[in-house]
Amino acid sequence: MVQGATNWNTETTEEWLQQYIDDWVAFYRKHTSDGEVASYIPVLQEANADHLGISIVGKNGTNIRSGDVDVPFTIQSISKVLSFIVACMERGIGYVLDRVDVEPTGEAFNSIMHLEMKQLKKPFNPLVNAGAITVASMLEGKSSDQKLESLFNLLEKMLGYRPHLDIDVYESERDTSMRNRAIGYYLLEMGYLEDDLNITLEAYFKQCSIEVTIDDLARIGMILANDGFDPSTEEEIIPRQVARLAKALMLTCGMYDASGKFAAYVGIPAKSGVAGGIIALAPARVRDEELPFIDGCGIGVYGPALDKQGNSIAGIRLLRHIANKWDLSIF
Ligand code: DON
Repeated sequence: MVQGATNWNTETTEEWLQQYIDDWVAFYRKHTSDGEVASYIPVLQEANADHLGISIVGKNGTNIRSGDVDVPFTIQSISKVLSFIVACMERGIGYVLDRVDVEPTGEAFNSIMHLEMKQLKKPFNPLVNAGAITVASMLEGKSSDQKLESLFNLLEKMLGYRPHLDIDVYESERDTSMRNRAIGYYLLEMGYLEDDLNITLEAYFKQCSIEVTIDDLARIGMILANDGFDPSTEEEIIPRQVARLAKALMLTCGMYDASGKFAAYVGIPAKSGVAGGIIALAPARVRDEELPFIDGCGIGVYGPALDKQGNSIAGIRLLRHIANKWDLSIF
């Protein structure tokens, strides 16, 4: 029996939801002390490890938020979902999938080992660094800024404003990017890149440094939950086939070497970023009882204390709790 299932259809639904979420955020905030903020990009170390916030947006615009809701953070690897979507929209799905696969790695996000050991014809998937850098090379444009123009346009359409770069994070990432440069040179040697290596890497560092909030992630998640259709403007922002592909990748590869456990215990498409963000989404469910956000929802989480895989430690536990209580799993 899903907790409180009989109460969701009353006038006080939103108050009920708010109370539950407030309690759960307060409880899981204690779990932030089990993780650590990212330190390999020096500026990210300045984040407050105790922070935890969540925003949930329903198809009808209902928005439940709790915790540290107004703290901006950089999107980091969550941008890989968006750059993949943009590349598919610019080049076509076939072109992109000829150059990057859709298989989970079971390895860390910045692993280089599997590329060489498995003698791949293309990187494993667009959500690990090797795949994301390859995708960045496919984005149209002669400079890194031009390459990101369509990504910013997509964000502006979804969010109603144009986000900006966090220059400090961008410079910090660029100046400490030895591993990503190593991956880039390997991709260059193998002939996987479609564009100049330095322009491609600049575009990749910049896309990771876009500043967002949990409300932004929840809104993007809600549009993906609706297969790319924005119910508030009644506009198809992302072609349905591209949105579905992106969600399949989020489910199988979005949490890196914790993707299997996340699918098993949470059961919804999600993507994490090393600054502490997680985007997640639940599609509409068909059940014979009333459930919260039964028409689908997008979820944004922020909690910069990370586990060993680079995922928000309290954020994952909070999501697991909510998904179980509200029966969000797609399985
Ligand atoms: O490539 C990097 O190191 C980062 N800018 C992005 C990594 C990231 O967010 C991994 N996710 N958990």
